[in-house]
Amino acid sequence: MTFAAGIIGIGCYLPEKKLTNQDLEKMVDTSDAWITERTGIKTRHIAAPDQATSDLAYEAAVRALADADTKPEELDLIIVATESPDYKYPSTACLLQARLGAKNAAAFDLSAGCSGFVYGLGIASQSIVSGLYKKILLVGAETLSRITDWTDRNTCVLFGDGAGAAVLGRVEEGYGVLSLDLGADGSGGSHLIQPAGGSRKPTTHETVDAHEHLIHMDGQDVFKFAARRMPYACRKVLQKAGMTIDDVALLVPHQANLRIIDNAIDRLKIDRDRVWINIDKHGNMSAACVPVCLTEAQEAGRLKKGDKVIMVAFGAGLTWVGALVKWAK
Ligand code: ACO
Repeated sequence: MTFAAGIIGIGCYLPEKKLTNQDLEKMVDTSDAWITERTGIKTRHIAAPDQATSDLAYEAAVRALADADTKPEELDLIIVATESPDYKYPSTACLLQARLGAKNAAAFDLSAGCSGFVYGLGIASQSIVSGLYKKILLVGAETLSRITDWTDRNTCVLFGDGAGAAVLGRVEEGYGVLSLDLGADGSGGSHLIQPAGGSRKPTTHETVDAHEHLIHMDGQDVFKFAARRMPYACRKVLQKAGMTIDDVALLVPHQANLRIIDNAIDRLKIDRDRVWINIDKHGNMSAACVPVCLTEAQEAGRLKKGDKVIMVAFGAGLTWVGALVKWAK
């Protein structure tokens, strides 16, 4: 016997402090005009010094659990998608499990860059479909400000901190996750990398002096990858579900660069008012982008039961992912 699986609650958390383009003008050789025109970003949130990724994840998780009317003890599994965990180990998911008191839940972190939340949606939904688990907490949470090179204008203008969470559970037949497309092209791994701090290049004074413990990115290579893969993943999930873009009520894309989103809008021929865009307010929060978008869309009354929603993302790995969901709440 199989079950339909879908999102039964969502929530997000954004740190209070905002960093504007004008603030960045004082830190590196950049301008509000350049950042706005080349990326679409105006401001982003930055975690307080005493806030780590699990703290942001906790706030988002509490809100998602309330929205799902679910108690922490009901959870069978917690997945945290992140590229900026509190520690290499223990996992951020285990820290969250302890803080929530979700004593019946298994827990692990998922590393798929900005694709992490939607990758997690794929894994979590199939764990419910198979009957293995009934309720799963899936979180995308990042404090990218901790691994950003604040002297590198090519990258430091792009990122922000935040967290979004979803509770997945059994839903009515025909609702929930309808189709998925998870992909990777590891040959592009070096385009988006934190070069030092792992077993390949353990942390030394030299690696820290060279800023190799921070994000390194070939922006144009990642841009080209994203421009191809975002529309590709959308078409794949539509094809698998036997639908067209006209059936989609809302497209929720990863928010890395407004020009990448615009490119997807053009290629897919979808009306702009059916695409959720918040990059101007939050920048690129990696795995947190999609669940934060979903929460905002729900709060704005843009997600109604039965709506077909596509979530699509790309990120470090390189990875890409699409999910087509029939909104179940
Ligand atoms: N302010 C002013 N000038 C800048 C800035 C800045 N912040 N950043 C770069 N420039 C300059 C460059 O130095 C370059 O100058 P030059 O011509 O004198 O060498 C010029 O602007 C153009 O640089 P490009 O790299 O060609 O700029 P581009 O239009 O490609 O935009 C960007 C760069 C925004 C990074 C873009 O390539 C991009 O968005 N790429 C995708 C990034 C992405 O999606 N990353 C995902 C990360 S997610 C994760 O997993 C953490």
